[in-house]
Amino acid sequence: MNCPAFLSAAARRPLQIAARVRPPRQRQLHISAAAMSQKLQPAARVASQRQDVWSIVNEAAAASPKQPIINMGQGFFGYNPPDFILRAAKSALDRVECNQYSPTRGRPRLKQAIADAYAPHWGRRLDPDTEITITTGANEGMLSAFMAFIEPGDEVIIFEPFFDQYISNIEMAGGKIVYVPMHPPPAGGEKTLSAGEWTIDFEFLEKAVTPRTKMLVLNTPHNPVGKVYSKQELERIADICLKNQVIILSDEVYDRLFYVPFTRIATLSPEVEKITLTVGSAGKNFYATGWRVGWLMGPAELIQYVAAAHTRICYSSVSPLQEACAIGFEQADAEGFWDQCITDMKNKMDRFNQVWDELGIPYSEPEGGYFVMVNLAKVQLPDGYPFPPHVADRPRDFKLAWFLIQELGVAAIPPSEFYTDANAHIVEDYLRFAVCKPDDVLETAKERLRGLKKYIRAD
Ligand SMILES: Cc1ncc(COP(=O)(O)O)c(C=O)c1O
Repeated sequence: MNCPAFLSAAARRPLQIAARVRPPRQRQLHISAAAMSQKLQPAARVASQRQDVWSIVNEAAAASPKQPIINMGQGFFGYNPPDFILRAAKSALDRVECNQYSPTRGRPRLKQAIADAYAPHWGRRLDPDTEITITTGANEGMLSAFMAFIEPGDEVIIFEPFFDQYISNIEMAGGKIVYVPMHPPPAGGEKTLSAGEWTIDFEFLEKAVTPRTKMLVLNTPHNPVGKVYSKQELERIADICLKNQVIILSDEVYDRLFYVPFTRIATLSPEVEKITLTVGSAGKNFYATGWRVGWLMGPAELIQYVAAAHTRICYSSVSPLQEACAIGFEQADAEGFWDQCITDMKNKMDRFNQVWDELGIPYSEPEGGYFVMVNLAKVQLPDGYPFPPHVADRPRDFKLAWFLIQELGVAAIPPSEFYTDANAHIVEDYLRFAVCKPDDVLETAKERLRGLKKYIRAD
């Protein structure tokens, strides 16, 4: 806009627009094309061009001649949360206060319901005001924990295979990841063994700790292995962390799905509790992964900083669904929901795994969660099979996944994606299947997987 030349400088000032929307001055227009394109470059933390496993699998699924694909890849549920929780969500939407901001640390009703629901497992009732904070799913809760405690260069130990979001969450905080691999049982390619037989080398773990180690991330029940860490294993991990004053971030999002006794590391002793942040997920507990409600529990001295980081990242979490989750926790016991969860998921697991027993293909019998790792070493991929270059480049499990999608119309996840390149070979014969699907979907998957018979090596 041009101002008439006769207006005084003072009179012209009100017509000027704010600096943040002012067009660039002439001088700035001379920025070279190269410099300009430099400015448009993304930050390194989001710039990776490597196609991730989810897009490879989804792309393969879309290109498969076998439609519709049975998707046992991603861990979303193929059915709804139970009615009492859905009703709670719908009624929350009708309440004025449930459609407005929640307190940044979460709705008091939800924090109280969580404190009550966890009291029998904790041996005491957590203080809902200081020892629990609500987050936007477990994932954002863990990002908040890393943002709260990690300074650039601090080290965080994680076990392979890992939940892939840990990596970017730690890196965004400037942390350096130190990997400790889990190993499948050596006979895992020949016979079905318990997922509990996947082990970490404790000497290796001790050596991985340095003066810069700030946190260790544990996941039990474990995705993708299905292992529930034994009390003895947890004690060894806890001892190492206590000795070195390392914060334990215990990702327990599958805490309601265990088929063997399940110990929470925070409950081992008051000393361990003092250094432990425990992560929960309503998405996993209530079959509602899209609701994005999670929480962290731990000592007030740690939780306050997680809550502070969460406030800066997203201020507060979605209100009506927090309210629904509160009601879910309040009513779950009376509805017999937690016991039903275990029975239903174990039935699905057993129903699906029948097909591997039939085919003579071994798997790691899950102790918890809803994933099963199947060892397909006996499957012979046809010579010269036309894998696209981005799959041909990857370990054998990517080829197995591609082959199953194209030939049988069943999608599963190659777990080497959850290992570093150096350790990917450890799981190159495995695929991960998610069984949180309706029974008829599991039956169709089994019918299709019987098509593997002709590719199984005779020896
Ligand atoms: C081990 C593990 N941790 C955390 C999450 C994320 O949970 P949420 O959906 O509550 O963010 C997942 C989701 O798949 C998971 O498998």
